[in-house]
Amino acid sequence: MCGIVGYTGHRQAAPILLDGLSRLEYRGYDSAGLAVRNGKAATEIVKATGKLYHLADKTDQGRSLPDTCGIGHTRWATHGDPSIINAHPHVSGNSTGPGGGEGDSDVVGVHNGIIENYTELKEKLLRHGYQFYSDTDTEAAVKLVDYYYKKYQIGPVDAITRTMVRIRGSYALALMFRDYPEEIFVARKDSPLIIGTADDASYLASDAPAILKYTRQVYYIENLQVARISCGSVRFYDLNGDETSLPMTEITWDAAAAEKDGYEHFMLKEIHEQPTAVRDTLNSLLKDGRIDLSAAGLTDEMIRGLKQVEIVACGSAWHVGMAAQYVIEDLARIPVRVELASEFRYRSIPMAPDTLVIVISQSGETADSLAALRVARERGAQTLAIVNVVGSTIAREADHVLYTLAGPEIAVATTKAYSAQLIAMDVLAIQMALLRQTISQDEYVHLTEEMGTIPDKIRRVLEDKERLQWFSSKIANAHDIFFIGRGLDYAISLEGSLKMKEISYIHSEAYAAGELKHGTISLIEKNTLVIGILTQSQLFEKTISNMAECKSRGAYLMGITTNGNFAVEDSVSFTVYVPRTDEHFIPSLAVIPLQLLAYYTSVNRGLDVDKPRNLAKSVTVE
Ligand code: M6R
Repeated sequence: MCGIVGYTGHRQAAPILLDGLSRLEYRGYDSAGLAVRNGKAATEIVKATGKLYHLADKTDQGRSLPDTCGIGHTRWATHGDPSIINAHPHVSGNSTGPGGGEGDSDVVGVHNGIIENYTELKEKLLRHGYQFYSDTDTEAAVKLVDYYYKKYQIGPVDAITRTMVRIRGSYALALMFRDYPEEIFVARKDSPLIIGTADDASYLASDAPAILKYTRQVYYIENLQVARISCGSVRFYDLNGDETSLPMTEITWDAAAAEKDGYEHFMLKEIHEQPTAVRDTLNSLLKDGRIDLSAAGLTDEMIRGLKQVEIVACGSAWHVGMAAQYVIEDLARIPVRVELASEFRYRSIPMAPDTLVIVISQSGETADSLAALRVARERGAQTLAIVNVVGSTIAREADHVLYTLAGPEIAVATTKAYSAQLIAMDVLAIQMALLRQTISQDEYVHLTEEMGTIPDKIRRVLEDKERLQWFSSKIANAHDIFFIGRGLDYAISLEGSLKMKEISYIHSEAYAAGELKHGTISLIEKNTLVIGILTQSQLFEKTISNMAECKSRGAYLMGITTNGNFAVEDSVSFTVYVPRTDEHFIPSLAVIPLQLLAYYTSVNRGLDVDKPRNLAKSVTVE
């Protein structure tokens, strides 16, 4: 939700800021803005509504702004509609001018997060003579910094820490002060922010891909810390304004991984990166062919002693939890409950110390998942985070972390991170089963070896993409699509349905196949598309019967099943086959055609696949 960037150095700032914002656009894309400055001259602010290219056009790709220090923002609206007035940067003065204009202000800032008590702060500032021009919460934060700065005649760091004590909510704030040329001041609480340095320049961004091209040496600023950033150096301060230190970290992600690399969309590229994402994640959890979770600090005693597993996540990560539930219960015989993080955080679930709460998150910054993690820790549970972004807040706060190695995921609709999470959860389930002796050594060896075949089998599924592309052209005008399955097939249906609706805007629902007849079947009419997932041999006949019930009410059927189940073709109009494997791992294969179907349907409908309307990749608000 919103992306921020900053640069100070000896090069022209605006092109660097625009380039960084282009890699953060997945975080929000309803408006964007820049503020740049040089020395004590007035800050120049330019804003544009809509996607980033409007801002780039307005500034001649940044070339029309010569200054060497600046901040930028791409917005996902929370307070106030997506307009020029509400677009960031915001200023301490009375206006940013029409379309931006010259800032007449001492403080200029961009913000990612939500200031919850902004109304109260606004009232206070109005009483002190400030005027407000926007509907945003950010404007109140910027003006409050200015208020303390002037009232107490203190430096920027002290003005910012006073503000941090006063505001409630989440923020990554980047501010420039007229009196401190070539410097940027940042503050963070619960919204992501990294700072990088290289030679005589410094960079800041909400996420690594925005600065990877320039530097790999980064600092993960902590919650409630402030940083003072000048050309090539950074100083950190705590909430008391005392200087503190932070370790520098080297980012290992490949910069090329954040480029489209010839693909038309990031989503298609990321779909094709799944064999690698799954293989890399798997290899990182194996040593000499055996599972080794020591990097996550999970001890054998702890795993043996578990009585309950709670999996908490949002969106697709929650769907991974739904699949993992079946696998863990079946293999390791531990009761598993899967909760939406937004619900979990407000429920008073009793939690024993022998409960393991697993939080799954690609970004490691999802607000509800982070809050759920904190609740679980408060209640005394052990916590394990399955996270893709190194150094993210969830990764830092969990007791144990298991990283997926999917690399940077840019498309809003997750694909490779989902697949990497699935395999990580499979590994965990097998290790739990081995240690709790619910599977034999032979079964352990078989399962581990079989997992190793998954990357290649995904590659084979991807080879069938032309047929899915063809089929998607037939369904591009559908009004409703139902995805049905039982057991693990139901978990995959959930993901297939979300993928379809989030990028094609076609209404879709996922149903446990046996549940349809309890109400939903009334929605089936002539030519309604019903996609059945039929990969679990024990449940195959049951789901086929449920599909037949739909067909007799006029539905048009598609089926996804495993190689050899050719009888499906007697019942459905279009069949996709995936290679055979142990049925616990089938979600890793069956999800691929569903991703491709959603992708091509979105393309056929002429939609913006990578940046679907109303969404943002990293949901850092409640
Ligand atoms: O970063 P997270 O994994 O915590 O994100 C969770 C969801 O917001 C995310 O999976 C979302 O549902 C995706 N848009 C699905 O494609």
